[in-house]
Amino acid sequence: MKGLDDARRLDAADPLRRFAADFALPEGVIYLDGNSLGAPPRRALDRLAQTANEEWRNGLIRSWNAAGWIDLPKRAGAKIARLIGADEDSVVVCDSVSVNLFKLAAALIARNPGAALCVDAAEFPTDQHVLEGVARMTGAPLLRLDDDDIPDHAVLVRSLAHYKSAEILDMAAMESVARKKRCDIIWDLSHAAGLVAVDMKGAGARFAVGCGYKFLNGGPGAPAFISVAREEAEQIIQPISGWMGHAAPFDFSSDYAPADGVQRFNAGTPPILSLSALDAALDVFDGLDLNLLETKARALGEFFLDCVDDLPLTPLPTPTRRGGHVCLRSDDGYAIMQALIARGVIGDFRAPDLMRFGFAPLYISFENVRRAAETLREVLSTQEWRRAEFGKRGKVT
Ligand SMILES: Cc1ncc(COP(=O)(O)O)c(C=O)c1O
Repeated sequence: MKGLDDARRLDAADPLRRFAADFALPEGVIYLDGNSLGAPPRRALDRLAQTANEEWRNGLIRSWNAAGWIDLPKRAGAKIARLIGADEDSVVVCDSVSVNLFKLAAALIARNPGAALCVDAAEFPTDQHVLEGVARMTGAPLLRLDDDDIPDHAVLVRSLAHYKSAEILDMAAMESVARKKRCDIIWDLSHAAGLVAVDMKGAGARFAVGCGYKFLNGGPGAPAFISVAREEAEQIIQPISGWMGHAAPFDFSSDYAPADGVQRFNAGTPPILSLSALDAALDVFDGLDLNLLETKARALGEFFLDCVDDLPLTPLPTPTRRGGHVCLRSDDGYAIMQALIARGVIGDFRAPDLMRFGFAPLYISFENVRRAAETLREVLSTQEWRRAEFGKRGKVT
Protein backbone atom coordinates (compact mmCIF):
# COMPACT_ATOMS: atom_id res chain seq x y z
CA MET A 1 0.00 0.00 0.00
CA LYS A 2 1.21 3.53 -0.76
CA GLY A 3 2.40 5.60 2.19
CA LEU A 4 2.79 9.25 3.09
CA ASP A 5 6.30 9.36 1.63
CA ASP A 6 5.00 8.15 -1.73
CA ALA A 7 2.32 10.84 -1.61
CA ARG A 8 4.84 13.59 -0.84
CA ARG A 9 7.14 12.42 -3.62
CA LEU A 10 4.28 12.57 -6.11
CA ASP A 11 3.26 16.02 -4.86
CA ALA A 12 6.80 17.34 -5.27
CA ALA A 13 6.76 16.26 -8.91
CA ASP A 14 3.23 17.54 -9.61
CA PRO A 15 3.23 20.26 -12.33
CA LEU A 16 -0.15 21.52 -11.03
CA ARG A 17 0.82 21.93 -7.36
CA ARG A 18 0.97 25.73 -7.49
CA PHE A 19 -2.77 25.97 -8.23
CA ALA A 20 -3.97 24.88 -4.78
CA ALA A 21 -3.06 28.34 -3.46
CA ASP A 22 -5.59 29.86 -5.87
CA PHE A 23 -8.46 28.21 -3.99
CA ALA A 24 -9.98 29.18 -0.64
CA LEU A 25 -10.65 25.96 1.26
CA PRO A 26 -11.31 25.79 5.00
CA GLU A 27 -8.44 24.71 7.25
CA GLY A 28 -8.52 20.99 8.09
CA VAL A 29 -10.92 20.02 5.32
CA ILE A 30 -10.04 17.55 2.57
CA TYR A 31 -12.49 18.39 -0.15
CA LEU A 32 -13.24 15.43 -2.40
CA ASP A 33 -16.43 16.77 -3.96
CA GLY A 34 -15.18 19.22 -6.58
CA ASN A 35 -16.89 17.03 -9.18
CA SER A 36 -20.21 18.10 -7.66
CA LEU A 37 -19.53 21.64 -6.42
CA GLY A 38 -16.10 23.03 -7.22
CA ALA A 39 -14.14 24.79 -4.48
CA PRO A 40 -14.10 28.60 -4.63
CA PRO A 41 -11.22 30.16 -6.54
CA ARG A 42 -10.05 33.24 -4.60
CA ARG A 43 -10.46 35.37 -7.68
CA ALA A 44 -14.14 34.31 -7.98
CA LEU A 45 -14.83 35.41 -4.40
CA ASP A 46 -13.09 38.74 -5.06
CA ARG A 47 -15.04 39.26 -8.24
CA LEU A 48 -18.34 38.53 -6.50
CA ALA A 49 -17.55 41.21 -3.94
CA GLN A 50 -16.55 43.65 -6.66
CA THR A 51 -19.62 42.95 -8.77
CA ALA A 52 -21.91 43.41 -5.77
CA ASN A 53 -20.21 46.33 -4.05
CA GLU A 54 -18.97 48.38 -6.96
CA GLU A 55 -20.85 47.44 -10.10
CA TRP A 56 -24.27 46.88 -8.51
CA ARG A 57 -24.08 49.17 -5.50
CA ASN A 58 -22.44 52.14 -7.24
CA GLY A 59 -22.94 51.50 -10.91
CA LEU A 60 -26.55 50.37 -10.60
CA ILE A 61 -28.26 49.86 -13.94
CA ARG A 62 -25.44 51.70 -15.72
CA SER A 63 -23.30 48.61 -15.22
CA TRP A 64 -25.13 46.72 -17.96
CA ASN A 65 -23.09 48.85 -20.33
CA ALA A 66 -20.31 50.34 -18.20
CA ALA A 67 -19.23 47.04 -16.61
CA GLY A 68 -20.06 45.02 -19.71
CA TRP A 69 -22.68 42.87 -17.97
CA ILE A 70 -24.68 42.47 -21.15
CA ASP A 71 -21.86 40.64 -22.93
CA LEU A 72 -20.88 38.44 -20.00
CA PRO A 73 -22.70 35.29 -21.27
CA LYS A 74 -20.70 35.58 -24.49
CA ARG A 75 -17.37 36.43 -22.83
CA ALA A 76 -17.60 33.56 -20.35
CA GLY A 77 -18.72 31.31 -23.21
CA ALA A 78 -15.57 32.15 -25.17
CA LYS A 79 -13.44 31.12 -22.19
CA ILE A 80 -15.27 27.78 -21.95
CA ALA A 81 -14.88 27.28 -25.72
CA ARG A 82 -11.12 26.91 -25.25
CA LEU A 83 -11.69 24.24 -22.59
CA ILE A 84 -13.95 22.14 -24.80
CA GLY A 85 -12.23 22.67 -28.16
CA ALA A 86 -15.08 24.64 -29.73
CA ASP A 87 -15.05 27.88 -31.73
CA GLU A 88 -14.98 30.95 -29.51
CA ASP A 89 -18.32 32.16 -30.83
CA SER A 90 -20.09 28.83 -30.50
CA VAL A 91 -20.53 28.77 -26.72
CA VAL A 92 -22.74 30.84 -24.47
CA VAL A 93 -23.30 30.69 -20.70
CA CYS A 94 -26.95 30.66 -19.67
CA ASP A 95 -29.59 28.82 -17.64
CA SER A 96 -29.00 25.32 -16.23
CA VAL A 97 -27.94 22.13 -17.97
CA SER A 98 -31.54 20.92 -17.70
CA VAL A 99 -32.95 23.98 -19.46
CA ASN A 100 -30.22 24.04 -22.10
CA LEU A 101 -30.79 20.38 -22.82
CA PHE A 102 -34.48 21.08 -23.27
CA LYS A 103 -33.80 23.95 -25.68
CA LEU A 104 -31.39 21.92 -27.76
CA ALA A 105 -33.25 18.60 -27.82
CA ALA A 106 -36.55 20.27 -28.68
CA ALA A 107 -34.92 22.35 -31.42
CA LEU A 108 -33.18 19.34 -32.97
CA ILE A 109 -36.33 17.20 -32.93
CA ALA A 110 -38.29 20.04 -34.53
CA ARG A 111 -35.91 20.22 -37.48
CA ASN A 112 -35.67 16.46 -37.83
CA PRO A 113 -39.18 14.98 -38.01
CA GLY A 114 -39.37 11.25 -37.39
CA ALA A 115 -36.19 11.15 -35.30
CA ALA A 116 -36.27 9.35 -31.94
CA LEU A 117 -35.03 10.82 -28.68
CA CYS A 118 -32.46 8.48 -27.13
CA VAL A 119 -30.71 8.38 -23.79
CA ASP A 120 -28.80 5.80 -21.82
CA ALA A 121 -30.90 4.19 -19.09
CA ALA A 122 -28.03 4.88 -16.65
CA GLU A 123 -27.62 8.52 -17.70
CA PHE A 124 -27.82 11.30 -15.09
CA PRO A 125 -31.53 11.60 -14.16
CA THR A 126 -32.11 15.16 -15.36
CA ASP A 127 -31.01 14.21 -18.88
CA GLN A 128 -33.59 11.42 -18.90
CA HIS A 129 -36.32 13.54 -17.32
CA VAL A 130 -35.84 16.40 -19.77
CA LEU A 131 -36.03 14.07 -22.75
CA GLU A 132 -39.23 12.59 -21.29
CA GLY A 133 -40.64 16.11 -21.28
CA VAL A 134 -39.55 16.82 -24.85
CA ALA A 135 -41.04 13.48 -25.96
CA ARG A 136 -44.35 14.29 -24.29
CA MET A 137 -44.43 17.71 -25.87
CA THR A 138 -43.38 16.77 -29.39
CA GLY A 139 -44.74 13.22 -29.71
CA ALA A 140 -41.25 11.94 -30.65
CA PRO A 141 -40.57 8.43 -29.35
CA LEU A 142 -38.16 8.16 -26.39
CA LEU A 143 -35.83 5.16 -26.32
CA ARG A 144 -33.79 4.25 -23.23
CA LEU A 145 -30.63 2.48 -24.36
CA ASP A 146 -28.67 -0.12 -22.46
CA ASP A 147 -25.59 -0.38 -24.69
CA ASP A 148 -23.12 1.91 -26.44
CA ASP A 149 -24.59 1.43 -29.94
CA ILE A 150 -25.42 4.62 -31.79
CA PRO A 151 -29.09 4.61 -32.80
CA ASP A 152 -30.32 5.41 -36.34
CA HIS A 153 -32.13 8.66 -37.09
CA ALA A 154 -32.04 10.00 -33.56
CA VAL A 155 -31.21 12.80 -31.17
CA LEU A 156 -28.98 11.13 -28.59
CA VAL A 157 -27.96 12.65 -25.24
CA ARG A 158 -24.73 11.28 -23.79
CA SER A 159 -22.40 12.24 -20.95
CA LEU A 160 -18.79 12.34 -22.05
CA ALA A 161 -17.77 11.44 -18.47
CA HIS A 162 -20.32 9.41 -16.50
CA TYR A 163 -21.46 10.69 -13.12
CA LYS A 164 -21.09 7.30 -11.42
CA SER A 165 -18.55 5.19 -13.31
CA ALA A 166 -16.53 8.27 -14.42
CA GLU A 167 -16.01 6.49 -17.76
CA ILE A 168 -14.89 8.87 -20.49
CA LEU A 169 -16.22 7.95 -23.90
CA ASP A 170 -14.50 8.22 -27.27
CA MET A 171 -16.19 11.32 -28.66
CA ALA A 172 -14.58 11.17 -32.10
CA ALA A 173 -15.38 7.48 -32.65
CA MET A 174 -19.01 7.97 -31.61
CA GLU A 175 -19.42 11.05 -33.77
CA SER A 176 -18.05 9.27 -36.78
CA VAL A 177 -20.67 6.48 -36.44
CA ALA A 178 -23.40 9.02 -35.61
CA ARG A 179 -22.80 10.93 -38.84
CA LYS A 180 -23.42 7.80 -40.89
CA LYS A 181 -26.61 7.06 -38.95
CA ARG A 182 -28.24 10.51 -39.08
CA CYS A 183 -27.86 10.83 -35.34
CA ASP A 184 -27.29 14.20 -33.62
CA ILE A 185 -25.40 13.72 -30.36
CA ILE A 186 -25.90 16.26 -27.59
CA TRP A 187 -22.91 15.81 -25.30
CA ASP A 188 -23.38 16.45 -21.61
CA LEU A 189 -19.94 17.73 -20.62
CA SER A 190 -20.83 18.35 -16.97
CA HIS A 191 -18.20 15.96 -15.58
CA ALA A 192 -15.72 16.64 -18.37
CA ALA A 193 -15.39 20.41 -18.79
CA GLY A 194 -12.41 21.64 -16.78
CA LEU A 195 -11.06 18.12 -16.40
CA VAL A 196 -10.80 16.54 -19.86
CA ALA A 197 -9.11 18.32 -22.77
CA VAL A 198 -12.29 18.01 -24.85
CA ASP A 199 -11.81 18.61 -28.57
CA MET A 200 -15.32 19.11 -29.94
CA LYS A 201 -14.20 20.42 -33.31
CA GLY A 202 -11.55 17.76 -33.76
CA ALA A 203 -14.09 15.06 -32.91
CA GLY A 204 -16.75 16.52 -35.20
CA ALA A 205 -19.08 17.18 -32.23
CA ARG A 206 -21.62 19.95 -32.83
CA PHE A 207 -23.83 20.12 -29.76
CA ALA A 208 -23.01 20.18 -26.05
CA VAL A 209 -24.22 21.38 -22.68
CA GLY A 210 -22.42 21.37 -19.34
CA CYS A 211 -22.33 22.54 -15.74
CA GLY A 212 -20.58 25.68 -14.54
CA TYR A 213 -20.40 24.62 -10.90
CA LYS A 214 -18.37 21.39 -11.03
CA PHE A 215 -14.80 21.39 -12.34
CA LEU A 216 -15.26 24.92 -13.69
CA ASN A 217 -15.67 26.12 -10.08
CA GLY A 218 -18.31 28.76 -10.84
CA GLY A 219 -20.09 28.44 -7.47
CA PRO A 220 -23.37 26.94 -6.25
CA GLY A 221 -25.99 27.11 -8.98
CA ALA A 222 -23.57 28.78 -11.40
CA PRO A 223 -25.13 29.05 -14.85
CA ALA A 224 -24.44 26.30 -17.36
CA PHE A 225 -23.10 26.50 -20.91
CA ILE A 226 -24.38 25.44 -24.28
CA SER A 227 -22.29 24.91 -27.38
CA VAL A 228 -23.70 24.74 -30.89
CA ALA A 229 -21.45 24.71 -33.96
CA ARG A 230 -21.81 27.92 -35.94
CA GLU A 231 -23.26 26.35 -39.10
CA GLU A 232 -25.84 24.41 -37.07
CA ALA A 233 -26.94 27.27 -34.83
CA GLU A 234 -28.02 29.34 -37.82
CA GLN A 235 -30.41 26.56 -38.87
CA ILE A 236 -32.26 25.99 -35.63
CA ILE A 237 -34.69 28.00 -33.59
CA GLN A 238 -34.80 27.10 -29.94
CA PRO A 239 -38.21 26.97 -28.25
CA ILE A 240 -37.60 29.41 -25.38
CA SER A 241 -37.50 32.38 -27.71
CA GLY A 242 -36.97 35.01 -25.06
CA TRP A 243 -35.88 38.59 -25.55
CA MET A 244 -32.22 38.01 -24.62
CA GLY A 245 -31.91 35.62 -27.56
CA HIS A 246 -33.45 38.20 -29.91
CA ALA A 247 -31.27 39.81 -32.57
CA ALA A 248 -32.05 43.27 -31.16
CA PRO A 249 -33.64 43.01 -27.69
CA PHE A 250 -33.67 46.76 -27.13
CA ASP A 251 -35.66 47.44 -30.27
CA PHE A 252 -38.61 46.08 -28.26
CA SER A 253 -40.28 44.71 -31.36
CA SER A 254 -43.27 42.39 -31.07
CA ASP A 255 -41.90 39.73 -33.37
CA TYR A 256 -39.09 37.35 -32.53
CA ALA A 257 -35.96 37.42 -34.67
CA PRO A 258 -33.21 35.10 -33.42
CA ALA A 259 -29.76 36.47 -32.62
CA ASP A 260 -26.79 35.23 -34.62
CA GLY A 261 -25.41 31.79 -33.91
CA VAL A 262 -25.42 30.36 -30.42
CA GLN A 263 -26.47 33.71 -28.92
CA ARG A 264 -30.04 32.79 -29.83
CA PHE A 265 -29.91 30.21 -27.04
CA ASN A 266 -30.04 33.00 -24.46
CA ALA A 267 -33.56 33.38 -23.14
CA GLY A 268 -33.97 35.73 -20.19
CA THR A 269 -31.82 38.19 -18.24
CA PRO A 270 -28.48 36.63 -17.23
CA PRO A 271 -27.77 36.09 -13.49
CA ILE A 272 -24.93 38.59 -13.28
CA LEU A 273 -23.68 37.80 -9.76
CA SER A 274 -23.16 34.10 -10.40
CA LEU A 275 -22.05 34.70 -13.95
CA SER A 276 -19.34 37.09 -12.71
CA ALA A 277 -18.08 34.47 -10.26
CA LEU A 278 -17.95 31.84 -13.02
CA ASP A 279 -16.26 34.26 -15.43
CA ALA A 280 -13.51 34.94 -12.90
CA ALA A 281 -13.20 31.25 -11.96
CA LEU A 282 -12.54 30.40 -15.61
CA ASP A 283 -9.39 32.53 -15.59
CA VAL A 284 -7.73 29.91 -13.39
CA PHE A 285 -7.44 27.80 -16.57
CA ASP A 286 -5.69 30.55 -18.52
CA GLY A 287 -2.64 29.19 -20.33
CA LEU A 288 -2.93 25.83 -18.59
CA ASP A 289 -2.10 22.61 -20.46
CA LEU A 290 -5.47 20.89 -20.12
CA ASN A 291 -3.98 17.43 -20.63
CA LEU A 292 -2.34 17.71 -17.22
CA LEU A 293 -5.75 17.83 -15.51
CA GLU A 294 -7.06 14.45 -16.60
CA THR A 295 -3.68 12.80 -16.09
CA LYS A 296 -3.42 14.03 -12.52
CA ALA A 297 -7.06 13.23 -11.67
CA ARG A 298 -6.55 9.70 -12.90
CA ALA A 299 -3.33 9.33 -10.88
CA LEU A 300 -5.05 10.66 -7.74
CA GLY A 301 -7.91 8.19 -8.23
CA GLU A 302 -5.50 5.30 -8.70
CA PHE A 303 -3.53 6.35 -5.64
CA PHE A 304 -6.75 6.40 -3.61
CA LEU A 305 -7.84 2.97 -4.82
CA ASP A 306 -4.44 1.61 -3.95
CA CYS A 307 -4.67 3.07 -0.42
CA VAL A 308 -8.09 1.50 0.22
CA ASP A 309 -7.82 -1.80 -1.62
CA ASP A 310 -7.79 -3.89 1.56
CA LEU A 311 -10.96 -2.28 2.94
CA PRO A 312 -14.33 -4.07 2.72
CA LEU A 313 -15.67 -1.73 0.04
CA THR A 314 -16.11 -2.59 -3.63
CA PRO A 315 -14.90 -0.06 -6.19
CA LEU A 316 -16.96 0.32 -9.36
CA PRO A 317 -15.06 -1.39 -12.19
CA THR A 318 -12.32 0.87 -13.55
CA PRO A 319 -13.14 2.02 -17.07
CA THR A 320 -10.39 2.18 -19.69
CA ARG A 321 -10.42 5.95 -19.44
CA ARG A 322 -11.62 7.45 -16.17
CA GLY A 323 -12.56 11.00 -15.22
CA GLY A 324 -12.21 12.83 -11.94
CA HIS A 325 -13.90 10.60 -9.38
CA VAL A 326 -14.09 7.05 -8.11
CA CYS A 327 -16.99 5.30 -6.40
CA LEU A 328 -16.88 2.71 -3.65
CA ARG A 329 -19.90 0.53 -3.06
CA SER A 330 -21.26 -0.29 0.38
CA ASP A 331 -24.76 -0.89 1.75
CA ASP A 332 -23.75 1.44 4.60
CA GLY A 333 -22.27 4.01 2.22
CA TYR A 334 -24.50 6.87 3.28
CA ALA A 335 -23.62 6.62 6.99
CA ILE A 336 -19.93 6.01 6.29
CA MET A 337 -19.82 9.13 4.12
CA GLN A 338 -21.52 11.19 6.85
CA ALA A 339 -18.96 9.97 9.39
CA LEU A 340 -16.17 10.93 7.00
CA ILE A 341 -17.66 14.37 6.47
CA ALA A 342 -17.84 14.84 10.25
CA ARG A 343 -14.08 14.26 10.27
CA GLY A 344 -13.52 16.84 7.51
CA VAL A 345 -13.20 14.50 4.52
CA ILE A 346 -15.96 15.62 2.21
CA GLY A 347 -17.24 13.38 -0.56
CA ASP A 348 -20.81 12.54 -1.50
CA PHE A 349 -23.24 9.66 -1.78
CA ARG A 350 -25.16 8.52 -4.82
CA ALA A 351 -28.11 6.20 -4.21
CA PRO A 352 -28.47 3.38 -3.77
CA ASP A 353 -25.04 2.48 -2.39
CA LEU A 354 -22.18 4.53 -3.85
CA MET A 355 -19.72 6.69 -1.94
CA ARG A 356 -18.23 9.08 -4.46
CA PHE A 357 -14.79 10.64 -4.05
CA GLY A 358 -13.83 13.40 -6.47
CA PHE A 359 -10.25 14.37 -7.23
CA ALA A 360 -10.21 17.90 -8.60
CA PRO A 361 -6.65 18.06 -9.89
CA LEU A 362 -6.19 21.80 -9.35
CA TYR A 363 -6.44 21.69 -5.57
CA ILE A 364 -6.19 18.08 -4.38
CA SER A 365 -2.78 16.68 -3.51
CA PHE A 366 -1.62 13.09 -3.17
CA GLU A 367 -1.09 13.79 0.52
CA ASN A 368 -4.77 14.83 0.79
CA VAL A 369 -5.74 11.55 -0.82
CA ARG A 370 -3.54 9.51 1.47
CA ARG A 371 -4.98 11.26 4.54
CA ALA A 372 -8.54 10.79 3.30
CA ALA A 373 -7.91 7.08 2.83
CA GLU A 374 -6.53 6.83 6.37
CA THR A 375 -9.59 8.61 7.73
CA LEU A 376 -11.83 6.17 5.88
CA ARG A 377 -9.89 3.29 7.40
CA GLU A 378 -10.39 4.75 10.91
CA VAL A 379 -14.10 5.41 10.38
CA LEU A 380 -14.51 1.75 9.42
CA SER A 381 -12.31 0.25 12.12
CA THR A 382 -13.90 2.30 14.93
CA GLN A 383 -17.38 1.71 13.44
CA GLU A 384 -18.21 5.29 14.33
CA TRP A 385 -20.40 5.48 11.22
CA ARG A 386 -22.95 3.39 13.17
CA ARG A 387 -23.81 6.41 15.32
CA ALA A 388 -27.49 7.32 14.88
CA GLU A 389 -26.73 10.86 13.67
CA PHE A 390 -24.94 9.50 10.58
CA GLY A 391 -27.99 7.58 9.43
CA LYS A 392 -30.22 10.64 9.13
CA ARG A 393 -30.62 11.62 5.50
CA GLY A 394 -30.41 15.27 4.50
CA LYS A 395 -32.36 16.50 1.48
CA VAL A 396 -29.08 16.68 -0.45
CA THR A 397 -26.83 13.64 -0.34
C1 LIG B 1 -24.18 14.77 -15.86
C2 LIG B 1 -25.01 15.84 -15.25
N1 LIG B 1 -25.86 16.53 -16.02
C3 LIG B 1 -26.64 17.51 -15.51
C4 LIG B 1 -26.58 17.84 -14.17
C5 LIG B 1 -27.50 18.89 -13.59
O1 LIG B 1 -27.45 20.05 -14.25
P1 LIG B 1 -28.35 21.32 -13.83
O2 LIG B 1 -28.56 21.25 -12.35
O3 LIG B 1 -27.52 22.49 -14.24
O4 LIG B 1 -29.62 21.23 -14.58
C6 LIG B 1 -25.69 17.16 -13.35
C7 LIG B 1 -25.61 17.52 -11.92
O5 LIG B 1 -24.91 16.99 -11.12
C8 LIG B 1 -24.89 16.14 -13.89
O6 LIG B 1 -24.06 15.44 -13.13
